[in-house]
Amino acid sequence: MKQIYFDNAATTKIDERVLKEMLSYFNEKFGNASSVHEKGREAREAMEKARKIIAKSINAKKSEIYFTSGGTESNNWALKGLFFENYPEKNHIITTKVDHDCVLNTCKWLETQGAEVTYLDVDEEGFVNLEQLKNSITEKTIIVSVIHGNNEIGTIQDLEAIGKICREKNVLLHTDACQSFTKVPIDVKKQNLDLVTLNAHKIHGPKGVGAIYIREGIRITPFFHGGGHERKMRSGTENITGIVGFGKAVDVANKKDIEKMKILRDKLIDGILKIENVRLNGPMGNKRLCNNINVSFNNIEGEAIGGYLEQRGIMTSTGSACASHSLESSHVLKAIRLSPIQSNSSIRISISKFTTDEEVDYFLKTLPGIVKKLRRLSPLS
Ligand SMILES: Cc1ncc(COP(=O)(O)O)c(C=O)c1O
Repeated sequence: MKQIYFDNAATTKIDERVLKEMLSYFNEKFGNASSVHEKGREAREAMEKARKIIAKSINAKKSEIYFTSGGTESNNWALKGLFFENYPEKNHIITTKVDHDCVLNTCKWLETQGAEVTYLDVDEEGFVNLEQLKNSITEKTIIVSVIHGNNEIGTIQDLEAIGKICREKNVLLHTDACQSFTKVPIDVKKQNLDLVTLNAHKIHGPKGVGAIYIREGIRITPFFHGGGHERKMRSGTENITGIVGFGKAVDVANKKDIEKMKILRDKLIDGILKIENVRLNGPMGNKRLCNNINVSFNNIEGEAIGGYLEQRGIMTSTGSACASHSLESSHVLKAIRLSPIQSNSSIRISISKFTTDEEVDYFLKTLPGIVKKLRRLSPLS
């Protein structure tokens, strides 16, 4: 049976061009970037090339990009690094109720260390309330951390407006851009961003590598202490193979792929909404990630829909990938005011640049029958 992978918000297939670029760094060019001999220089040059590509893509300087092991580490570093740099003079962090667990659980842990955290509400489409943000900033506030593109419902926050508020109030702004990177323009200057979390495996690069942009001049406590890699800010021998792949993944990303995904996304949304009693979670149009669809079906379990879809070769997810093994309802769907029943009746379909029109047609042909069958079986209908 043909497999259709519609779980690209969890992770993506590596692009062949990325794989090709990486391969020689496993065996031939295996040097340590800290070594001063030829093999070391070769590794360092490759790493600096990737750093330049990533910096340019967000209008940053090369020296403002630090490589990490991924989005989770970058988010942990941003929050813990700034907290410990500023505590006890300042101890307030602002984030949102729809941020990723690696931000929320870091904030919860920081609360045990003396942090005060405000979790901002969002509206029914998942947008942050800017007035509430303004009113929440105090003289104790260190940082505002807002997810750019939501991993569950695709909402794209207005970073420029948020950045303006943060600049006026003189607090730092961090964004988790793991889902939006290369899909939505990021310009650290225009959007007044002080720290940005990025990773590779959501953009057809390898897993286990990411980066953080830290604006020049920001004082932040290093995350790993050791041999002084990454300008003494993040020690540990650099993952050159991963970094090379990350750079290539950014290099090959392009607008045409985004436009293609938008068309397929809207075709999926239109087709799914033709089924009765279905609700789209998150906004429509340009304020939604080009690869995200999240829908709730009255009276049936999302898990059951996912199970039947998988029997027909289609892989989707319920909630976010990290949380989908837990039985708890999604915190994001709860924040946009879905009841636990509605939340449990949701699935996320996330496409990629490799998704084809035929795959979309097959999905739209398959889904209505599954919904009908499950509704017939449901004690709630
Ligand atoms: C929005 C967001 N932030 C952070 C992460 C974590 O990134 P990583 O898997 O690279 O640690 C993910 C991935 O699930 C994500 O979707």
